Amino acid sequence: MTRKMLVTSALPYANGPIHIGHLVEYLQTDIWVRFQKACGHTCHYFCADDTHGTPIMIRAKSEGVTPEQLIERVHHEDVQDFTDFEIEFDNYYTTHSDENRQLSERIYHEALAAGSIVQRTVKQAFDEQEQMWLPDRYIKGTCPRCSAENQYGDSCDMCGAHYRATELINPVSAVSGRPPVLRESTHYFFKLGDYAAALKDLFKAGYVQASVKRKLDEWFAAGLKDWDISRDGPYFGFKIPGEDDKYFYVWLDAPIGYMASCKNYCDRNGLDFEHVWNSGEYEVYHFIGKDIMYFHALFWPALLIAAKLRRPDKLFVHGFLTVNGQKMSKSKGTFIMARTFLKHLDPQYLRYYYATKLSGDVDDIDLNVDDFVSRVNADLVGKLANLPSRSGPMLTKKLDGKLGMLDDEGRKLIDQLAQAKDSIIADYETLNYAAAIRRICALADVSNKYVEDHQPWTLIKTDPEKTRTVLTAVLNASRILTIYLKPVLPAFAEKMERFLNIPPQTFADVATPLENHPINPFERLIERIEKQKVDAMIEDSKQDAAPPAAEPSAAALDEPLADECTIDDFMKVDLRIAKIVKASAVEGADKLLSLELDLGGLTKHVFAGIAKAYTPEDLVGRLVVCVANLKPRKMKFGLSEGMVCAAGPGGSDIFLISPDTGAKPGQRVH
Ligand code: MSP
Ligand code: ZN
Repeated sequence: MTRKMLVTSALPYANGPIHIGHLVEYLQTDIWVRFQKACGHTCHYFCADDTHGTPIMIRAKSEGVTPEQLIERVHHEDVQDFTDFEIEFDNYYTTHSDENRQLSERIYHEALAAGSIVQRTVKQAFDEQEQMWLPDRYIKGTCPRCSAENQYGDSCDMCGAHYRATELINPVSAVSGRPPVLRESTHYFFKLGDYAAALKDLFKAGYVQASVKRKLDEWFAAGLKDWDISRDGPYFGFKIPGEDDKYFYVWLDAPIGYMASCKNYCDRNGLDFEHVWNSGEYEVYHFIGKDIMYFHALFWPALLIAAKLRRPDKLFVHGFLTVNGQKMSKSKGTFIMARTFLKHLDPQYLRYYYATKLSGDVDDIDLNVDDFVSRVNADLVGKLANLPSRSGPMLTKKLDGKLGMLDDEGRKLIDQLAQAKDSIIADYETLNYAAAIRRICALADVSNKYVEDHQPWTLIKTDPEKTRTVLTAVLNASRILTIYLKPVLPAFAEKMERFLNIPPQTFADVATPLENHPINPFERLIERIEKQKVDAMIEDSKQDAAPPAAEPSAAALDEPLADECTIDDFMKVDLRIAKIVKASAVEGADKLLSLELDLGGLTKHVFAGIAKAYTPEDLVGRLVVCVANLKPRKMKFGLSEGMVCAAGPGGSDIFLISPDTGAKPGQRVH
């Protein structure tokens, strides 16, 4: 039975480029959509840029362009990135569209009519220095639930609690670094609690994975709170009907962007959007990351229910990407942009590697760089591409490029491969791509063994026709494996189809062997990864992270302030003016200088990591600030009895803090 489906990935924010973390999601979805299409189903894949909200406004301002110009530019960049990673949307749209405005107003009016929207005066955080209302994400502070520090104003990364920014303890503005003030304003609230029962029914019907369901149960237990869906101007978004300077909160119109992208596609392709979205003829699936579960598991279906629209069938939640077991990091060069990856490496490597890692659960997935190189080289290149590349050229060069007939043994091999089809289909359907790849690799092993057993390169010398029979089996095996891999590696599959001189293959073609068939010259399918290229990509990503000259103050988010300390904490540190009386290099430690400091009668000996920035001659006689009560530390080279204060990232970029020349050694620094 053929099915009809609408599939979405979360809409990436238009305030920054696509990175390899995002790609976990877009590749996971793209593989699934390609798989469904390869099964002969009708499957439309919709996405869009998420273009509204404060971060976009701030970024546009800092670039000296309008938000419209910014989102236009990012749209082109995103489309290019996705295209180059072979992520094939049926429509990649924008939330800043007429369709989205109309649908947002329609859903708002329906919810209003249902009595689920109320107005209330609230106190909201306002940054007086920047003269702007602060969105939750631009306020940081201590979680009111678990007391974790340095959490955002909407939710806590440590305990997963959701709360209002006003509940945050010790809040500061991430834009100016100052505590925000509270100002009154009237806001619109969506009464999520009205939909508790309907939502519970949805979850019973299997809307989410089991582990997500557990999280939802916690949220239910905590009680469903009203949701603030409005923002005061200045704001980049859709104006709330009947209001002068109030806008829909970006998270109201963002998921509606799924529908808007679908509507735009329907209108351009002669389909009736109302029917496609609402009749139930199409199944609806959303792919998202675990950080945006609350919006997609609660608000979004509740809004649809309020507006008497069809609810989605399933939410597929994936985990976050880590690199070498850690969060992506700009300083380590593991915060890799899609574009940087493409500059150095073949996108198929990432498609393949993520497929080996994705199993359909919510666990984080790790890109371990060494494992990445070895899996691609050993399995993708060494097993899957190797099979046709050892047999193809022999057939075209020595046996006039014609496949013969399978013999019994060849047929047995092909049958074994074909029999795995249903299991592989089930793996893909359940998002367990890792299992699919394991099966495919095991079948590649069987096929490579067949080649070893028959030694075609020896056989050709004595029995060309028997060799043709063997190669016919090998290339048929390759063809089946290629069909299985096609959702993951469309470009690889296309080359194989060209080589085998066959039309685009689907899962239905597995059963039909290719016999007495002319093929084309072999083209190389994929190259081995060179570790140097991976290293170069990581180096390049470190450069990406270098801050531009005039970064807006919002960039402070990238390098947040350390945990707050009290004045009492601070006063424990005894800072003194000191004079450097001796300075010398340290044998065996090219970063260290050995310093003798005079603190007004008291002498301290300190090792300082400043040798790349200063020579001993620079230093003698100079005044510095010294942490005088630091517990002495025994180092390999001797005892270090304090620390001199310096600023800068390190290496040659270190700047000693210099007191005015009038300061006296030993004086306390306050
Ligand atoms: N704009 C919202 C989504 C609105 S959907 C109506 C948003 N955008 S995002 O750009 O931050 O993220 C887009 C998707 O990429 C999200 O599903 C998010 O979970 C996913 N990822 C972003 N960074 C990720 C990783 N580091 N790892 C895995 N997925 C990640 O959220
Ligand atoms: Zn918490």
